[in-house]
Amino acid sequence: MIDLLMGCESESLGIAACLADPHNASMSTRRNASLSARQRVVLLTGASSGIGKACADLLSEAGYVVYGASRNPDRICLPPDGWTPMGVDVTDDRSVEECVEAILEAEHRIDVLINCAGIGLAGAIEETSISKATAILQTDFLGMLRTCRAVLPTMRNQGGGQILNVSSLAGRIGLPFQGLYSAAKFAVEGLSEALRIEVRPFGIHVVLIEPGDIRTPFTDNRTFVDVADSSPYSERMKRALRKAEADERAGPAPSRVARQIGRILAVKSPRARYTSGGLFQRAASHLKALLPDRWFESFLSAYYRVR
Ligand SMILES: NC(=O)c1ccc[n+]([C@@H]2O[C@H](COP(=O)([O-])OP(=O)(O)OC[C@H]3O[C@@H](n4cnc5c(N)ncnc54)[C@H](OP(=O)(O)O)[C@@H]3O)[C@@H](O)[C@H]2O)c1
Repeated sequence: MIDLLMGCESESLGIAACLADPHNASMSTRRNASLSARQRVVLLTGASSGIGKACADLLSEAGYVVYGASRNPDRICLPPDGWTPMGVDVTDDRSVEECVEAILEAEHRIDVLINCAGIGLAGAIEETSISKATAILQTDFLGMLRTCRAVLPTMRNQGGGQILNVSSLAGRIGLPFQGLYSAAKFAVEGLSEALRIEVRPFGIHVVLIEPGDIRTPFTDNRTFVDVADSSPYSERMKRALRKAEADERAGPAPSRVARQIGRILAVKSPRARYTSGGLFQRAASHLKALLPDRWFESFLSAYYRVR
């Protein structure tokens, strides 16, 4: 299926054209014909930037009714193309509840939830304060839990829905000097796997999206632990982060993940997870499953120059 999804990755191809590809007959048979894009209401978090913004633009262009949530909707540099920005902080219970209530008042249903809001945190685990650890877990993990809890009663009552949780390759592999980010994304993975089984009888599909490095403002928005001048980790940490940042800045555009998400929404019975990004990075999680742990650790340490 990955090959099938990747077969439609040209930068210039919009989702509408991609979904309408008459040559892709096997994909067409998997489409849920009863739900046209035009009828489906989407709540997407992290919509002001990067992957979320690309996704909101693409889905609204394809006819979905998109509500895009972020803390700073007024900072969106390009005006949203046909979708509705909402000011929401996913670390705040009430803010998430009010957002869902407002959408239900206007649309009376929510068909799709895409959890894309996220922040990064870099630094040695030993030097990570509990408050910094709490902040990333609050956004990347509990933020996702909050939105899932807020929409699930509606999806159950309306007889179905789709929840796409944007995890990361870092949710499959513990990245050195991004340990708390990996921990948050591993938590997203575990919760999504369990939730997928719990809600399947209600017609709700839960899917993990695992991008590799993607070229977005995430790199510049990344937060850091406070590092002392005398830190025994500083040289190795700098090397690892230089490599990670270089990979991100050289990564594919966020529109690639957005197009993949669009295609997944058109699949009637989606898989549990979809990787996204460069071939090497997509292969890395399979390599981890195949290699003995020590070999994989050596490979990862060499890759990030932290031996
Ligand atoms: N870029 C990559 O290489 C990469 C790779 C793998 C996975 N990912 C994942 O993809 C997702 C999107 O990342 P991105 O690359 O698009 O980064 P980005 O450009 O920095 O976008 C992050 C989005 O999250 C929103 N956000 C952050 N904290 C929030 C909060 N408390 N409440 C509501 N919204 C919040 C931001 O908006 P405001 O600041 O306005 O709130 C922004 O819209 C993240 O979950 C990230 O972990 C990214």
